[in-house]
Amino acid sequence: MITVIDREGAEHSDVDWEDDESLMECLVRNSFPILATCGGNASCSTCHSFLDQVSFETAGEIDEDEADVLDSLTEDEREPTSRLTCQVPWDEDLEGAVVRIGPF
Ligand code: FES
Repeated sequence: MITVIDREGAEHSDVDWEDDESLMECLVRNSFPILATCGGNASCSTCHSFLDQVSFETAGEIDEDEADVLDSLTEDEREPTSRLTCQVPWDEDLEGAVVRIGPF
């Protein structure tokens, strides 16, 4: 289970993240407003969200494609724990993560 904070600031605890999903797929399945227009190919940034610090460190390396997309965001849009959620696979160590939906 993870906690998701939506764009209005409402906290949704006990969001189920299944072990065959990326974090983006989990958010979409749970009806959060994630467009994911590129289908999870790290090229659109519409799945951009923020992880809590511990989960950000647990989620692993950001590869070059994801880094390029994150670098295209403005300073207002990006935060130190920004990730493209399509590039974050399920990991049992991410149990309890807190994910704040990005600005678009
Ligand atoms: Fe497009 Fe993640 S779904 S970058």
